[in-house]
Amino acid sequence: MANKAVGIDIGGTGIKGAVVDVSNGKLLSDRVKIPTPVGGEPDAIVETVQQIIKKLGGVDKKEPVGVCFPAVVVNGTTLSAANVSKSWIGLEAEKLFEKSLGCDIRFVNDADAAGYAETLYGAAEKAKGLIIMTTLGTGIGTAIIYKGVLVPNAELGHIELEGVDYETKASYAAKEREDLSWGDWAARLQKYYSALEAYFHPDLFIVGGGVSKEYKDFLPLLKLDTPIVPATLRNNAGILGAAALAAGK
Ligand code: BGC
Repeated sequence: MANKAVGIDIGGTGIKGAVVDVSNGKLLSDRVKIPTPVGGEPDAIVETVQQIIKKLGGVDKKEPVGVCFPAVVVNGTTLSAANVSKSWIGLEAEKLFEKSLGCDIRFVNDADAAGYAETLYGAAEKAKGLIIMTTLGTGIGTAIIYKGVLVPNAELGHIELEGVDYETKASYAAKEREDLSWGDWAARLQKYYSALEAYFHPDLFIVGGGVSKEYKDFLPLLKLDTPIVPATLRNNAGILGAAALAAGK
């Protein structure tokens, strides 16, 4: 199995990439970041990913390349577009990238990549059993990992509570949009994590997304039976997980 792989993380504001040693989760190159093209249309994003790969010195044909993206991805086809351009719905994204980049690609959901990376190299490295990763950002991304095996495309950010898709209430974007205090936001997170706890009874929750840096302001306010910890891989989680999944790690 290859230890060297490229990971690319496509987000709403930026696209990041790096070469990764998947045996230990260390970056073998600088992290390259380019702003996401306005509108987030597939062709423009493919072009940006091409530029990132060029800046990383190109990929040799045998090197695994993993790309993660904020949508449901089944067999390389993107099936949803909660916070991205609707042109991704039903798109054979993996094929599109393979054709344009001239190499094999593994195309996966962003939260799946981040959660998988946390279990291999981060917050859940030593955890056992059922782990639920949640990323609090523009939306809420989730990943379910059981005994090291990823159950892909869990879209638990969209569970309905109080009659609404709850990522619209409990994401970090909702906190910002409504100018919620940490306490008011934590009250919503309490409802959210209590529901996940009641449905899944996990052994561990991991909280990622940019705001997880400030975990001291909100995680201690939550009363849960399940341990809940901040992610440790920060901005690199998506890159590392995409690379690891591409390399078959
Ligand atoms: C999308 C998920 C994605 C999450 C985080 C949600 O709105 O439905 O697929 O993982 O946002 O980006």
